[in-house]
Amino acid sequence: MKHFKCLWILLGVLWIEVMANGQEENAALWGKTSQSSIYLDSVPEFALDGLLNSWTHTNTETDPWWRVDLLKVYRVNRVTITNRPTHGWRINGAVIRIGNFLDIYNNTVCATISTLADGATDTFSCGGMKGRYMIVHIPGDQKILSLSEIGVYGYLAGNMAVDGAATQSSTFMSWFAEKAIDSNRGLQKNTSCSSTLNETNPWWRLDLRDVYKIRKVVVTNRNDCCPEQINGAEIRIGNSLENNGNDNPICAVIPAIPAGESYNYSCSGMEGRYVNLIIPGDMKILTLCEVEVYGQALFPRNVAVDGAATQSSVYMDWFAEKAIDSNRGLQQYPLCSSTNHETNPWWRLDLRDVYKISKVVVTNRNDCCAEQINGAEIHIGNSLENNGNDNPICAVIPAIPAGESYNYSCGGMEGRYVNLIIPGDMKILTLCEVEVYGQVLKRSFVKMQFNSRVDLTDPSVRENVLKQLGSVLADRGFKT
Ligand SMILES: *[C@@H]1O[C@H](CO)[C@@H](O)[C@H](O)[C@H]1NC(C)=O
Ligand SMILES: *[C@@H]1O[C@H](CO)[C@@H](O)[C@H](O)[C@H]1NC(C)=O
Ligand SMILES: *[C@@H]1O[C@H](CO)[C@@H](O)[C@H](O)[C@H]1NC(C)=O
Ligand SMILES: *[C@@H]1O[C@H](CO)[C@@H](O)[C@H](O)[C@H]1NC(C)=O
Repeated sequence: MKHFKCLWILLGVLWIEVMANGQEENAALWGKTSQSSIYLDSVPEFALDGLLNSWTHTNTETDPWWRVDLLKVYRVNRVTITNRPTHGWRINGAVIRIGNFLDIYNNTVCATISTLADGATDTFSCGGMKGRYMIVHIPGDQKILSLSEIGVYGYLAGNMAVDGAATQSSTFMSWFAEKAIDSNRGLQKNTSCSSTLNETNPWWRLDLRDVYKIRKVVVTNRNDCCPEQINGAEIRIGNSLENNGNDNPICAVIPAIPAGESYNYSCSGMEGRYVNLIIPGDMKILTLCEVEVYGQALFPRNVAVDGAATQSSVYMDWFAEKAIDSNRGLQQYPLCSSTNHETNPWWRLDLRDVYKISKVVVTNRNDCCAEQINGAEIHIGNSLENNGNDNPICAVIPAIPAGESYNYSCGGMEGRYVNLIIPGDMKILTLCEVEVYGQVLKRSFVKMQFNSRVDLTDPSVRENVLKQLGSVLADRGFKT
């Protein structure tokens, strides 16, 4: 029996807020890794674990490769590679590619690494190359690809304006506001542009439906006539609808755009849900052939739908899951969850990972008894003590009118569990929908080394130890 063994385990840990400071994200951390072969335990994830004393390692083979699937298409500005601390020469000749193809060679070359010293980090500029995959490979026979760390820095590639909703101060004929976000720069037929009437302070507004950090706005001017009409237009970004959003901070003022051209305006991460264009003054017309908005969502998604729901008791078939079925449940019954009448009824969502939660949206029933929700508490945290109902409180719901959805801002509280509980006797907790908006705290890999009295080379013993470790860590909100 061996008394001292190393055991490597993979588990989730709290990660830094990559997006919070306006930096580009290391998109690799979001991604799924793979490689052509795995030598011993040197898994492809080791290139993302933030540790310099671990590295990926393929077998000796022809054309070994390592790949990260960023899950979405990014514009990659740069790739950083940290070489392993020994045998660093093996990386010589490695090629970095970016693109949307699973077949390595169809992707575009960003750079070739001629040589990199042992343990050294180098940055390769990819100038905004677009792709979902970043691949490192070494062409040739009898090669080993071994990487200590990889970073892929860039931005989501898409124009977010197309998912928004546009409106404007007035509409000239059929030059609707939406035509500025129809993905058509509108230069063939001038009917694919938006236009207001001739009026005082004409404006156009885009609602991105969520708060974004906006990198740049691209405006395309008309080419049929009168390009000078755009002169003096202000681009404003923010969250306020005061004065129709036209009082939000200015990103840029457009001095002029030549007919039919598209000009970029850098907004360097200004935050806002609304993007307005307004031309201050009398007798102005605002015509826009296309407005594109690039950036990233701060808290993009209702993550509740990926979770697992449970509740203290179930009334008939009003199961806990019905509160996370993406259906606010107001048409038919039962599309809501409900407990029985009981003391302290509760409902719990397990997000399966630790999130930084910006807000929780609760939709109340509209069939009857809307007041039953009154006094419900929203708790967020990582503990399952008292079924999760002892976690910190984000908000208490005084009341929600029948059938309405109310937002509760949780200001980035962290947790894996979201509970709703109504304290008191003879209460019923009915929820037609619970939405949770936030961001996963990044997963990372942690290696643990510890003394063990059991033989960890025995697979069944090892499995058992991992299980125990997993459950201890799970209690603390970690996920193995
Ligand atoms: C395009 O604009 C010009 C000038 O404003 C106008 O004369 C013409 O009728 C327009 N064409 C269409 C198809 O709306
Ligand atoms: C403007 O943005 C487009 C699209 O992202 C890009 O191709 C172009 O190079 C940019 N032009 C300038 C001047 O920044
Ligand atoms: C708006 O109408 C006035 C009065 O007819 C005219 O003088 C002005 O040029 C028009 N503005 C534009 C941008 O066409
Ligand atoms: C609540 O959140 C929803 C969904 O993101 C949004 O459409 C709505 O404007 C928000 N309402 C308030 C009052 O914040």
